[in-house]
Amino acid sequence: MSELTKVLTESELLHNLGKLREGKDSGYSAFYSSQLGGIIKEDSLMVIPFDDHMVHRGHGIFDTAAIANGKVYDLDAHLDRFIISAKNSKLLLPFPKEQMKKIILDTTAISNRRDGSIRYWISSGTGNLGLIPPEDAKPAFFVMIFGGLDYPERYYNEGMKVITTSYPIKPALYAVTKSTNYLPNTLMQLEAKEKGFDNGIFVDSYGNVGEGSNMNTAFVSQDDKLKHPKFDNILSGCTAKRILELAESLIGKGIIKDVNICDISVEEARGSKEMMFIGSSIGVAPIVEWDNKKIGNGKPGPIVFELKKLLSDDIINSKDRLIEVQYT
Ligand SMILES: Cc1ncc(COP(=O)(O)O)c(C=O)c1O
Repeated sequence: MSELTKVLTESELLHNLGKLREGKDSGYSAFYSSQLGGIIKEDSLMVIPFDDHMVHRGHGIFDTAAIANGKVYDLDAHLDRFIISAKNSKLLLPFPKEQMKKIILDTTAISNRRDGSIRYWISSGTGNLGLIPPEDAKPAFFVMIFGGLDYPERYYNEGMKVITTSYPIKPALYAVTKSTNYLPNTLMQLEAKEKGFDNGIFVDSYGNVGEGSNMNTAFVSQDDKLKHPKFDNILSGCTAKRILELAESLIGKGIIKDVNICDISVEEARGSKEMMFIGSSIGVAPIVEWDNKKIGNGKPGPIVFELKKLLSDDIINSKDRLIEVQYT
């Protein structure tokens, strides 16, 4: 007869939580939970109750901003998008924007991280396992300071290879809302990996290019225009939007002819000189092959390089998009 499944004591539970992280550097430097009422530095205790609706129903939203050289980049743009995601998801804000901003900056300061990522979530709260939490449930706010996603250097030096995913693109409302339902994005990424590619591209029902798993995509046309899909059916990428603004300076220098936000058919996109991914985790990365066909000459191109430089410069020197973290 097999033994009964163990019932854990409180101390065994704490011990086992610690064991889950043992010998691993999670890179999780600080975590804020409104449910627990403060910041936690011990990574094994950065937990959310199981009956939180973000856990068992996916009723939550998130966003991510970058920390570079001890400063937070473009937090307002990310928080504004976060608030739109909350509204689209019928999630109440746990705190006003300025207070969420303060908690984010305080958690960053406590983390001591000078470079990395800040991810933050709103969930509808705890209290039952139904679709909707009880009426008195409080929306919760969580902030995690961590090392950020790691991409291979090869992506930047040699360029990425992508496939058109077989998974359907999200309907517009779900694509523009950064909810914790990333199943299509995850399936696309898994499919690409299984088939030996770096990532996938969603295509809409009209045959227009959408986006990647957690990044936007843009193109340089044969007539040297920087082209980005309209943001109606894809996530309104803060990085892509900023790059499209910064790229205006390349028109004056004669490096590109124009910046267009428009529908881009797959056929047109395949004939581009350059293709790229853009996002706050990947930055700007060239795509050199799509469905085993070369983009341009199959090598990272000069415009991607220029855009990467513009973004790196903005992350370090921007006059109005950096917030100095008050480390103690
Ligand atoms: C689906 C999707 N598209 C695009 C992006 C790029 O957005 P951002 O530049 O704000 O990181 C992300 C990342 O957040 C994403 O998850």
